[in-house]
Amino acid sequence: MTDPRSGGDSLPEAARESRARSPVPPLSPLRVAVSGARGRVGREIVAALEADPGFECVAAADVDDDLGAALSGASAQVLVDFSVPTAAAGNALTAIGQRVRPVVGTTGIGDAAVTTLRGRCEAAGLGGGVIPNFALGAALLMWLAELCAGHFESCEIIESHHPTKLDAPSGTALRTAERLLEARRGRPFRHPDPRTETLPGTRGGSLGGAGVHSLRLDGPVADQTVIFGAAGQTLSLEHRTTSRTAFVPGVLAAVRAVVATERFYTSLEEVLGLPPAASLGRAMASSEAP
Ligand SMILES: NC(=O)c1ccc[n+]([C@@H]2O[C@H](COP(=O)([O-])OP(=O)(O)OC[C@H]3O[C@@H](n4cnc5c(N)ncnc54)[C@H](O)[C@@H]3O)[C@@H](O)[C@H]2O)c1
Repeated sequence: MTDPRSGGDSLPEAARESRARSPVPPLSPLRVAVSGARGRVGREIVAALEADPGFECVAAADVDDDLGAALSGASAQVLVDFSVPTAAAGNALTAIGQRVRPVVGTTGIGDAAVTTLRGRCEAAGLGGGVIPNFALGAALLMWLAELCAGHFESCEIIESHHPTKLDAPSGTALRTAERLLEARRGRPFRHPDPRTETLPGTRGGSLGGAGVHSLRLDGPVADQTVIFGAAGQTLSLEHRTTSRTAFVPGVLAAVRAVVATERFYTSLEEVLGLPPAASLGRAMASSEAP
């Protein structure tokens, strides 16, 4: 079979040699738009896209800009959104309406919006994603926590963020609690409440018995600790983000993935192709049974 790239045997010898010597044409950079582009994370994403020859930042929109108009002139392939929870789903729908794949990093948009975006992407045959944490360490923390979930009776999740974060708990903490319960097939953790709570709220929130605590203070960017407890022992898994550059490689990987696969992603582990930890954890738990 003739290699279509060779041009067949009918080309003169000189032309064949010249074609063989010419370099392989570089892949075109992925055309990416950013909404929330003047925000703390948005600025990092725009800078990263501009620095990487594999990408081209074709639009950078913020609150006062007309995103629809910015996208229509830009032939963007992907919209990365790091804006505010009240705007992110609408921005993503605007993108889908123009056949631009949304990658939403904004947290706190709610499950119903995620379901809607998944449905709209799938109906349009477009990839997309809503990913509550793009930091590799946070993805691995959730994955490891899922592995552990069936082995311990109690669990407390503590997340710390900067004081201007709009939502609490963080999307990551909520998703971690949900995934731990899914890994336990809904079996709740033990969450003892004190007989007297002298300061109301001190025990934090609880999702299926997994305690969830939100710290808001100057200093942290986005930290999370998951503490498991069982008789006579605790296990702590901790992830700390010291700079917003931590989110960049995960965002770029998700941008590549949504274009390459046209799938809808809800976690960085899916983007990275990690095996499902919940089933591994359940297999470990059953092999421990007497
Ligand atoms: N998924 C992750 O890994 C991850 C990591 C960090 C932050 N976040 C989330 O990303 C979001 C942004 O975080 P941040 O720290 O950059 O916040 P920020 O307040 O610094 O930036 C938000 C930006 O969005 C802009 N904005 C407001 N309304 C808009 C609209 N309608 N359209 C477009 N832009 C609009 C604001 O003007 C601002 O520039 C938050 O929800 C945060 O929780 C997610």
